[in-house]
Amino acid sequence: MGNRIAQITPSVTLEITARAKALKAKGSDVVNFAAGEPDFDTPDFIKDAAIKAIENGLTKYTPASGTSELKEAVCEKFAKDNGLSYKSGQVAIGCGAKHSLYNLFQALCEEGDEVILPSPYWLSYPEMIKLAGAKPVVAETDRKSFTMRPEDLNSRITRKTKAIIINSPSNPCGAVYSKDALQKIADIAVKHNISVVSDEIYEKLIYDGLRHVSIASLNDDIYGLTFVVNGVSKSYAMTGWRIGYVAGREDLIKGISALQSHSTSNPSSISQAAALAALKSDADTVVKMAQEFEKKRNIMIDELSGASGIDCIKPMGAFYCFANISGTGMDGLTFSKKLLDEKHVAVIPGAPFGMKNYIRLSFATSVEDIKRGAERIREWVKQ
Ligand SMILES: Cc1ncc(COP(=O)(O)O)c(C=O)c1O
Repeated sequence: MGNRIAQITPSVTLEITARAKALKAKGSDVVNFAAGEPDFDTPDFIKDAAIKAIENGLTKYTPASGTSELKEAVCEKFAKDNGLSYKSGQVAIGCGAKHSLYNLFQALCEEGDEVILPSPYWLSYPEMIKLAGAKPVVAETDRKSFTMRPEDLNSRITRKTKAIIINSPSNPCGAVYSKDALQKIADIAVKHNISVVSDEIYEKLIYDGLRHVSIASLNDDIYGLTFVVNGVSKSYAMTGWRIGYVAGREDLIKGISALQSHSTSNPSSISQAAALAALKSDADTVVKMAQEFEKKRNIMIDELSGASGIDCIKPMGAFYCFANISGTGMDGLTFSKKLLDEKHVAVIPGAPFGMKNYIRLSFATSVEDIKRGAERIREWVKQ
């Protein structure tokens, strides 16, 4: 095996998911809080657009960075939702936001560069950074809001710093950066001429009346340094369709397009047609899903509040609760394995997200399962 691949950390989440599946196959009643995707089905009007695309022969290669129609729709979305002005040439469509992020790090980083990522972080960032020849540099965050403060960022900047990752709302803890917090980060990035990778995939899943702010929209300087990554997976329940996108400096977008032309070629033509229908639709579908998630979040937080040794901060976005379980005397991995074996509840340990005394529980499941699973956890920790 080559060195580049040998340095990748295998996914702990897969181990837990495989165990949960094996238990289920044996007939056990497993409650699954491990999911990383909406439990809703893709809306019918999006499916219909895909069916029409097939019937109309949209079944051939498209340009490597996506169809001009979809890129224009993405530009319209940025203008409407984020107050950001992009031309089509500044947008590359990828096979999911994950693919867009991967290609962005490949295009952006050189051997030895450093990329700052606030902890807790989405577990794919460090691996993507390493695969681009760069070094992930973890920054502390405020323990209440899980957002990076100016001092956390300043203490990690070196001459090698190439980029800073901002993921708001975040996976795994649902942290949302305020405009003020983003402004402070933007000022530091501009002062040191450091790029910002802003992963806004959970943009639409935001609660308590909060409004999402894209760091790129704060002023022209930070706009020029930022790459905004987004997609349709989480907002439109389209995880399997694999459409994401990145917008930013034209030369880097050209580089990403060239990379795609020699690797994946274009994202699926049919999925692009479906994503176009999603982006062109009115906001109703997304708003309804977000309202449902907010209800489920409230139920999960309520249900877990009685569990001794578990301290759960209310997430402000996404669909995960990130809970400190140090009060139970276990670390996240032991907790997750034992809980699954003894109570048949699947949760994800916090270590791959950079925090070993935490677990991640997804509320993208039925209300009935949230209640059943939380009850099992309460009983188990009492014992
Ligand atoms: C923070 C974050 N960014 C990006 C992605 C990737 O999403 P996509 O399905 O569009 O590849 C995920 C998916 O879990 C995520 O949690």
